[in-house]
Amino acid sequence: MPSVLFVCLGNICRSPLAEAVFADMVKKRGFGDDFTVDSAGTAGYHVGEEPDERSVEVCRRHGVPVDSVCRQLEKADFTRFDYIIGMDSMNMSNIEKAKPANSTAKIALFGSFGDGKVIQDPYYGGKDGFEKTYKQCVRYSEGLLKAMGYDDASGGKL
Ligand code: 4NP
Repeated sequence: MPSVLFVCLGNICRSPLAEAVFADMVKKRGFGDDFTVDSAGTAGYHVGEEPDERSVEVCRRHGVPVDSVCRQLEKADFTRFDYIIGMDSMNMSNIEKAKPANSTAKIALFGSFGDGKVIQDPYYGGKDGFEKTYKQCVRYSEGLLKAMGYDDASGGKL
């Protein structure tokens, strides 16, 4: 059963959006039960909080349910999840710093499953940033699913 953990800095803007988009995509394609999907932050500033209202709003607009609660990345995640996916270069270096010696997770930049770009932190910007983040999450989720051996069109495992 594949498991994916999306990681950003605060776990209130980008990674809850990535989690929601990816979970919705696998559900709509009929293999939601196959997957465990979660998100976490490398920092603990917002632990216990709901996602940023701008992430909730963009999900609502696109009909994607979002229901995560902020938590911090922990050592056990590195053996619990098959994939740990960061949003930008700072996330990637923080993930590497937190990684225990017994880590079994595949660690990758989300954008590496698409155009190779980072997902910039939209926290201090306007609403546009959240729409851009959403679109990147959709594209990279397609690529991640394909990389995991799931067919994007038929909804079946390749
Ligand atoms: P995120 O955005 O990493 O996409 O959740 C941020 C949210 C909050 C903060 C930084 C980034 N912060 O510094 O509080």
